[in-house]
Order: sequence, then C-alpha cells, then structure tokens
Amino acid sequence: MHLISGTPPRPRHRLTQPRRDPVVIAHRGASGYRPEHTLAAYRLAIRLGTDYIEPDLVVTADGVLVARHENEISQTTDVARRPELAARRTTKVVDDREVTGWFTEDLTLAELRSLRAVERLPADRPGNTRYDGFFQVPTFAEVLDLAEREGRRRGAVVGVYPETKHPAHFTALGLAPEPRLLAELRRRHLDRPGTPVVVQSFDPTSLRLLAEESHVPLVQLVGAADPRLLSPAGLADIASYADGIGPEKSLVLPGGQPSDLVGRAHAHDLLVHVWTLRAEERFRTPGLGLEGPSTPEAEVQAYLDAGVDGVFTDHPDVAVRVRGAGLLSPAGA
Ligand code: G3P
Ligand code: CA
Repeated sequence: MHLISGTPPRPRHRLTQPRRDPVVIAHRGASGYRPEHTLAAYRLAIRLGTDYIEPDLVVTADGVLVARHENEISQTTDVARRPELAARRTTKVVDDREVTGWFTEDLTLAELRSLRAVERLPADRPGNTRYDGFFQVPTFAEVLDLAEREGRRRGAVVGVYPETKHPAHFTALGLAPEPRLLAELRRRHLDRPGTPVVVQSFDPTSLRLLAEESHVPLVQLVGAADPRLLSPAGLADIASYADGIGPEKSLVLPGGQPSDLVGRAHAHDLLVHVWTLRAEERFRTPGLGLEGPSTPEAEVQAYLDAGVDGVFTDHPDVAVRVRGAGLLSPAGA
C-alpha cells in the first residue's frame, strides 16, 4: 500500500559520518519517576537532559493517535473505576493473544480524555502513585508540541521517538497508524532525516510501509523471545528499510557478556539502540562482570562499553550522568 506516491528512494545510513555520543531515550518518558506516557513524564525527562522522549502510539475509535503502551488501558488508567464505561469491558484477540479489558479503539478521544493515568508498577515505584489521578492520556500531537516548546525554552533540540503499537490490529479495524503518524509529522515538516524524529516498531510491515512513504529514520525493534530478524540475512534485510535496530538488552549482553550483535549491526551501518535500562535492581542485567557493585550507573556503562549507539531508559538522568562522565571505551567513543 502506498500512502503517498512518488517518494524517492531512502537515503543510505549515517554511520559513515563520525560517531557521536550515544543517545539517551526516555522510555515512556521519565517513567521511573512519573506514571508512564504522561506529559509530566515526558516533561521531566526533558528537564533531566534526555535526547529523545519515547511515546508508544495507539489509536482511538475516532482515529486519533495517543500515547499508551497497549491498546488495553486498565493497567495504566483508572478506566476500571468508571461506571459509565463499565459496559465497554470486553475480550478480544490482539496480535494472537486473548486480552480482556478496555481498548482505545473502543473509546473516542473525548472518552479517553475523561480518564486519568495511574502508575503501572506501584509495587516497584510506590512514590509514583502520588501522581495517580492527575494526568490525562496525551495525544501524539501534544507530545510533539511539548518537545518543540520545551526544546525552544531550553535552547536545545528535544527528539521524539514514536513506536507504532499493534499496527496490524489497528489496520484491520480501519485505523491504520502509519498514515496518521506521517500526516502529523508532515504537518510539522518532521518526516525526513535531519529532524529529531525516529520511528520504531516491532512490526517490519509497519516500518516497510513508512520506508516506502517517507524518509523518516526507522528502527526495527527485536525482542529476545524472537531474535530471528537478527540472523545474517535478517540484518541485511533490515538495512534495506531501516537505519537501526532496537534489541532487547539481553541480546547485547547475554548473561552479562557481549554478543557479536553490535559489531554485526554496525557492519551494516545499522545503529543499535538497546532497551530497557531501569534503575531498580530486579530489572538489572544479570551476570555483568563488574569490578564494583552492581548499580544503575554500572549497567549503563556496560552497554556503552559494548558499543551501543543509544539506550532506552526509564531513568534518563542516570544515563545522562554516565555519558557525561566521559568513561566511554574506545568501542563506544
Ligand atoms: O521501544 C523500545 C522498547 O520500548 C520496546 O519495548 O514494550 O517497552 O515498548 P516496549
Ligand atoms: Ca516502546
């Protein structure tokens, strides 16, 4: 499917230019400190010095892109406590998985905006629950507005790194995310290299579609449960439509030791942005061969030493601090 015809071929990648410092991507905003995917979480991430804020994108019944990790929203909003929406609870199959709850595609933007965000991980992040009930679900347009406004205020570019979530599911419902995403980027002249936008997805079909219709930089996400895309032939294929890969962190440091993935990706001029670094100990990479204690800073350093080009993190201040300490190994410099 072509969204807009006549787009010239994608330019080749940019790793042939001098390597820059690894980028810090605030995963769902500064989600270690505020309920995820709220303007408060994104704003705090910017204040903490992140390079990019990361909205996951889903679609409402009336076709608006909003920032949520899943289309089912009972874990991150107060929808279950809204009697007026009780009848919308349903069970459906999403990406081959049966899910019960409330879904963005069944709510209009106005209905979604009547809800308030809550902390997803209250046991791990009890301090964040004090913000439960304060913040709305933002639209993608609002996230872009925030990045532009805060960037202007700080005299620094703030990047936005959106992810298309459940793209096949939404497309089957007539709510394809890709044309909506490109329309929003085009409206702001952000659909091309050189602008502070990178689009990511686990779904190669979604990325291929975006590659055909725009020059926006693209990153192919790959989870450890299904690393088939990272075979030699798979990486070569990714390089034909994307600018980088976003591997789950255990693919880069399995058992705490470096794999060959970063080197193989770089051989294809593919950037490597690894996910997800979190400060809480239970999320930390096991087996890191550290001389000192296992700390959030030491984990970030281990990935920088492994040569990654960026990290997705719930605690962007930690990564900004480690990067600023200038302790990069030659491989990551
Ligand atoms: O987008 C990078 C990383 O966020 C992928 O995992 O599930 O947190 O969106 P997820
Ligand atoms: Ca994501």
